Amino acid sequence: MKRSGFGSTLGIVLATAGSAVGLGNVWRFPYMAGENGGAAFVVIYMGCILLLGVPGMVSEFIVGRHAQANAPRAYDKLSGGRPWRLVGYLGIFTSTVILGFYAVVAGWCLQYLFASMAGQLNGDAAYVKDYFATFSSSSVKPVVLGVVFILITHLVVARGIRKGIEQTSKLLMPVLFVLLLLLVVASCLLPGAMRGVEFLLRPDFSEVTSGTFLDALGQAFFSVSLGAAVLCTYASYFSKTTNLVKSSVQIVLIDTLVAVLSGLMIFPAAFSVGVQPDSGPSLIFITLPNVFQQAFAAMPAVGYVVSIMFYVLLVFAALTSTISMHEIGTAFFTEELHMSRSRSAWLVTAVASLLCVICALSVGAMPDLQLMGLSVMDFCDLLTANALLPVGGLMACLFVGWFVPRQVVADEFTNQGTVNRRFYRAYLFAVRYVCPLLILAIFLHQLGVL
Ligand code: TRP
Repeated sequence: MKRSGFGSTLGIVLATAGSAVGLGNVWRFPYMAGENGGAAFVVIYMGCILLLGVPGMVSEFIVGRHAQANAPRAYDKLSGGRPWRLVGYLGIFTSTVILGFYAVVAGWCLQYLFASMAGQLNGDAAYVKDYFATFSSSSVKPVVLGVVFILITHLVVARGIRKGIEQTSKLLMPVLFVLLLLLVVASCLLPGAMRGVEFLLRPDFSEVTSGTFLDALGQAFFSVSLGAAVLCTYASYFSKTTNLVKSSVQIVLIDTLVAVLSGLMIFPAAFSVGVQPDSGPSLIFITLPNVFQQAFAAMPAVGYVVSIMFYVLLVFAALTSTISMHEIGTAFFTEELHMSRSRSAWLVTAVASLLCVICALSVGAMPDLQLMGLSVMDFCDLLTANALLPVGGLMACLFVGWFVPRQVVADEFTNQGTVNRRFYRAYLFAVRYVCPLLILAIFLHQLGVL
């Protein structure tokens, strides 16, 4: 059976950038920067993206594009029977777990989109805080909306690579970008906004601790979708002429630009009304609705539109990411269990929805749903970000650096010797030594050893 693939280079870049750009950029990056001294964090983060993000992404691309198969089969094909296919299985597991809890937050974004349209977020600070607490702990709404989000994801994935994933990314990514730019302008025009801009752009290295480096590394990892074989699966739909290095650089640049712009959207607005950059869910679901109201108190119509735009942006960013997490399992079941694409997609949707329901209830109506002292939601978050992703990424780098036949790596990296030959040696060095050691460092840190 002939495999389908992306139709154009633009489609490849936008779909993969869509996977990378997500709640990690718009929500996690700004509060991580907020907690770690602003610009100093941004500088270190960019170093990590360069050293780790680009080589890691190229490695997953090499495996996927060479094998032209779902993740376990791809690792299998390139390892000649050794048990590397486990890395592929790990990727499917990790992506599906992430999909389960990510959809909960994406469902909150949907609710806030509806609520901002209906003008329900108007009220004082206590009201907004109470609104979030009441909504997230209800036993019906967050559960239903999380599952609805997975169903929307399902509709896209079931339509296939070109008609589903590529078309959707081509539509949503430009809109996302325009919304982001408009919001950055609106935010930076507010009185006193410059203090927020300064916070993000003027490095203060006195706030940097040893943990900052590792936090920045971890954020880089999550943000470019590294370590869950998502990039490997997408690369299996790339054309043989796609320039892997160039595409990686473009995708990483888009991802980083969106992260920085998100900071420029959130901090100036927050500083303008004297709100400290807060952390966690409260930043986008409690602090920001307040900020919008206060900042645009003189022009409520503008505030109304701005908050709708913000939640549309979040929903779009989350959707292009959940699509990628969904696709990896769907591709596997289609090819290995010989099911139709639609049936495989239903299988992934069913498993992810079940997880999503449990996660949503664990942070709301059923706080007893705990694992190892954490709500199931926080447990899934911690398990994937702090353990499974580092292992997956480490394996991808070790695999390409040390086990894949050198000729295969060279051919994929340079498209049979036609491009990128100058960077090949540097890449090989990075992937054999630099990346594994850096990833190991994150991992040990997260285990509390380092
Ligand atoms: N990168 C996305 C974000 O920033 C999240 C994401 C999508 C992801 N696919 C992934 C994270 C695979 C890790 C692995 O929100």
